Amino acid sequence: MPEDSEVRREVEHLRDELRKHEYLYYVLDQPEISDADYDRMMRELDRIERAHPSLIAPDSPTQRVGGKAREGFVKVAHAAPMMSLDNALTTEEFLEFDRRVRGLLGEEQPRYVAELKLDGLSMAAQYRAGHLVQAITRGDGVIGEDVTENARTIRSLPLSVASKFADFEVRGETVMNRAAFEALNASREQQGLSRFANPRNAAAGSLRLLEPSVTASRRLDFLPYYVLREGKPAFDTQWEALEWLKHHGFKVNPNRRLCDSADEVLDFCSKWEAKRGDLPYEIDGVVVKVDSIAQQEKLGATAKAPRWAIAVKYAARQAVSEVENITVQVGRTGALTPVAHLKPVSISGVTVSRATLHNEDEIERLGLKIGDFVVVERSGDVIPKVVRVQTQGSYRRDFHMPAACPVCNGKVVREPGESAWRCININCPARLKESILHFASRGVMNIDGMGEAVVDQLVDRGLVKSVADLYSLTLEQLESLDRMGKKSATNLLNNIESSKQNQLPRVITALGIRFVGDRTSKLLAEEFGSMDRIASSSETDLQKAGEVGPKVAQSIALFFSESENKKLIERLRAAGLKFEYPRVSKSTSAVPLAGKVFVITGTLPNLKREDAAAQIEALGGKVSSAVSRKTDYLVAGGDPGSKLEKARGLNVPVIDEEQLISLLKGEYNHK
Ligand code: IVH
Repeated sequence: MPEDSEVRREVEHLRDELRKHEYLYYVLDQPEISDADYDRMMRELDRIERAHPSLIAPDSPTQRVGGKAREGFVKVAHAAPMMSLDNALTTEEFLEFDRRVRGLLGEEQPRYVAELKLDGLSMAAQYRAGHLVQAITRGDGVIGEDVTENARTIRSLPLSVASKFADFEVRGETVMNRAAFEALNASREQQGLSRFANPRNAAAGSLRLLEPSVTASRRLDFLPYYVLREGKPAFDTQWEALEWLKHHGFKVNPNRRLCDSADEVLDFCSKWEAKRGDLPYEIDGVVVKVDSIAQQEKLGATAKAPRWAIAVKYAARQAVSEVENITVQVGRTGALTPVAHLKPVSISGVTVSRATLHNEDEIERLGLKIGDFVVVERSGDVIPKVVRVQTQGSYRRDFHMPAACPVCNGKVVREPGESAWRCININCPARLKESILHFASRGVMNIDGMGEAVVDQLVDRGLVKSVADLYSLTLEQLESLDRMGKKSATNLLNNIESSKQNQLPRVITALGIRFVGDRTSKLLAEEFGSMDRIASSSETDLQKAGEVGPKVAQSIALFFSESENKKLIERLRAAGLKFEYPRVSKSTSAVPLAGKVFVITGTLPNLKREDAAAQIEALGGKVSSAVSRKTDYLVAGGDPGSKLEKARGLNVPVIDEEQLISLLKGEYNHK
């Protein structure tokens, strides 16, 4: 039947979309749509599948608990699945939940516990004999990732608990509060790194860092809401569990209420919706749970979620405002991004006056003109977005992308298949500033202190016209900048000087060639061994490096063919940057550390950890994150942690930084 195939198509479409967004959200931590939009799509799919049960497939997004756990950490099964919750998006939907609960309980009256729904990352912490032994992320609900080392750095998570139970599991939410989030983003901006979109992503990114010491600096918080013993609730009621947690050193959210009626619950929900901006952390709703565990057991669960709990979701935080103007920003790649300037409007306590419009096509899709009234949304994201035009303005006028770069007046082009217009003037000051920030950023040339404020002044005063000029800056010039004392100027100059020690892969990344990030840079350096060989390779030859396809090869060849870039390369060579990369041939003994596996732990006195790793790799060694029988050396610095014990247990040789340096210089004899 044609109707049938139409339904089938719609179901497939929804599944594909949901899968894509689950991947973006759960695996990459880079959501592109709001939770509300996602929830709406999921319900629509659920509705259709219910109406056409023959279409239900085991791999439908409605048929599983959550997303896939991602690579990188050891995967561990949960003692009992970490379920997700059904959502109520309206009062009526909550009342329906209440009616269903009462219906199923018969004579018994439910009591509800209303808790704030924190917008973070759920995690299970296992305690044995009162000690924290393992922390696992939710993952797909059945299997999560072992993040014990990182979780131990969360100060609100007790490492040991004095209790009558020896073994138990605590589940809760790992969050980053607004202050820590703002501070982290400010410092990332200073270093020229990209901002985290919202506290949830910042928390997820921080919990899954391979480097626990960095996690420690990120100030995460753990707020528990559940206690299990042998995979079952440990108390008779949810409220008791929260009280127990509170009295055993856990940071239980104080904003909760025991409610005897649906009205009380709704009152709690609206009270916190109004006050959510005052909280130190983001919430996206209220979780309502039946208090009695006996009743919870009676109510049971569906394949996806318990029937005794529901998440009352708050509407995405939106407001209507007038678009007073649209201007255009120019990024490092020269991409022109239109930005809406709004009449300032408060959205859950934050004043919003700008929203990104992404690109020309988006403006067309929205049908937006200057003077229109638009719906603006802050879905936890830092950069608010325009959702739709609410009312057309009476005196609305068209916006056109500028015919020339708004910063340098240079030519702009939009290539076929691309959504962005780009300024193609390599010396455009806007591009230059972004290029310098990228060049100096952590993980690239690592020039600490070369933040936005400094770069703005260097470019605006004409002291730097190309990244190569960084290497001829003098102490006097740096000291002349606003808010720059002698000490910081000296430090900055030293940092510029020591950046010359970076290995070739970083130098390649620093050039900011389109599509060439740190991974590709490394593969290029390994394949070709020197900047000159890369620069002189044809597009066909470039594709010999792993993972380099025609598009990337074309971009690299184009970069090295432009005369301005050729000049830049020569100036960087003259400045003394590393253009050679010791070739690692797998078989020869000329590669001193070939096949040797290193693990680095603790803080090294001089070398940054990533620099030590780069040097080891440059000599053919491998750096791994976990100690095993295959480890040849553990390089231990200050505060080494559990890896040191493990290495000793396995008889893995432990060396310090000095011994590592001798090894790197070939002065230390390894066994
Ligand atoms: S209870 C079966 N309580 O919301 C019980 N969850 O949509 C499941 N969340 O995965 C969780 N605050 O990450 C519960 N007070 C709270 C919560 C909470 C936030 C998160 C949690 C869960 C998701 C469910």
